[in-house]
Amino acid sequence: MTKKSRPRTGADSRPAVFLGIETSCDETSAALLTEDFEVLGSVVLSQDEIHAPYGGIVPELASRQHIRSIGYVVAECLTRSGRTLSDVDGFAVTQGPGLIGSLLVGLSFAKGLSYCFQKPLYPVDHLSAHIHSVLIEHPSIPVPALALLVSGGHTSIFLMREKLDVVCLAKTRDDAAGEALDKIAKFLDLGYPGGPVIDRIAAEGTAGTFPFSLPQMSDGSADFSFSGLKTAAVRLIREQELNAGHAALPDFLASFQQAVVDALCRNTKKLIQKIRPRSLILVGGVARNSMLRRDFLSLAEQHNIPAAIPSPGYCTDNAAMVAALAVEQYKQGRRPDPALDLNAYSQFQDLRT
Ligand code: KG4
Ligand code: ZN
Repeated sequence: MTKKSRPRTGADSRPAVFLGIETSCDETSAALLTEDFEVLGSVVLSQDEIHAPYGGIVPELASRQHIRSIGYVVAECLTRSGRTLSDVDGFAVTQGPGLIGSLLVGLSFAKGLSYCFQKPLYPVDHLSAHIHSVLIEHPSIPVPALALLVSGGHTSIFLMREKLDVVCLAKTRDDAAGEALDKIAKFLDLGYPGGPVIDRIAAEGTAGTFPFSLPQMSDGSADFSFSGLKTAAVRLIREQELNAGHAALPDFLASFQQAVVDALCRNTKKLIQKIRPRSLILVGGVARNSMLRRDFLSLAEQHNIPAAIPSPGYCTDNAAMVAALAVEQYKQGRRPDPALDLNAYSQFQDLRT
């Protein structure tokens, strides 16, 4: 990425607009954002119905569905925005990490658009995009900010030293929090994705009814571990013969969900006390969870720090967050290198901002 001064690239000195594309997992999404983070249009097409019978994502089905949907999703986004592709000043696309076949659909499509319209293509890291999703509704978030990212594939705490300078302070050593919720829901035959189902049923129950002990890291780090909680949950389900119709299910799920949320908030608290950030950020699909949102806000209040949590639609995978990261890069004068040899990456390497 080269760095240049910041011209307004939009014609007639109107704000420049950026089209984001996200296909890293099982959502096909496109969004159009102005350089002022105004969302002109946003479309997220979920594949939940396709994967639900299998209780989890089937990668080959996901990439095939992205191929079917991507053209429609981009067209629909432009229609809702009242713009055409010729109005777009820059494209942005998720490069990784994610399912490689799914990523390649979005990346190839975006490369085609960038080449055809001779406009820059910003390759975007999926985790960075989740963190920067907060800019859509909180563009002036004070830094340094401590960011808890909780999704189906990742659970980590980052320090945003500056908007585009983010370092990882803690991560999960086994399952992600969303993965643990999804697996327990699958074990109980509650449907896919499990997180929202657990959220809904747990609202009817009382947390603390079933005992769960929180994982402790022997080295005192703020890293997470959710496999022990998951194993304890499976043991309780077997011992108490719990199932989808059991009267104690809401209490059980409320207790399990509370244990996951407590583990997330406890480690965040540890780092708040160590780092003393100026703000807190909660992002990722599990940031939709009502118990986590409530407890995270109360954690912020206890420490007298402002907290930013995106609206639910910007927590789960979406292209507005992809465009938002490109907008921040653009505002800071970063211009992407010519992109036709860009390749997707499936695994988390270093966080790329
Ligand atoms: O960020 P995301 O859309 O995809 C990844 O990058 O992984 O997150 C998906 C995860 C899934 O595990 C899903 O169960 C979880 O977010 N999720 C929730 C809720 N809504 C989505 N978990 C708990 N409560 C919710 N309301
Ligand atoms: Zn995600």
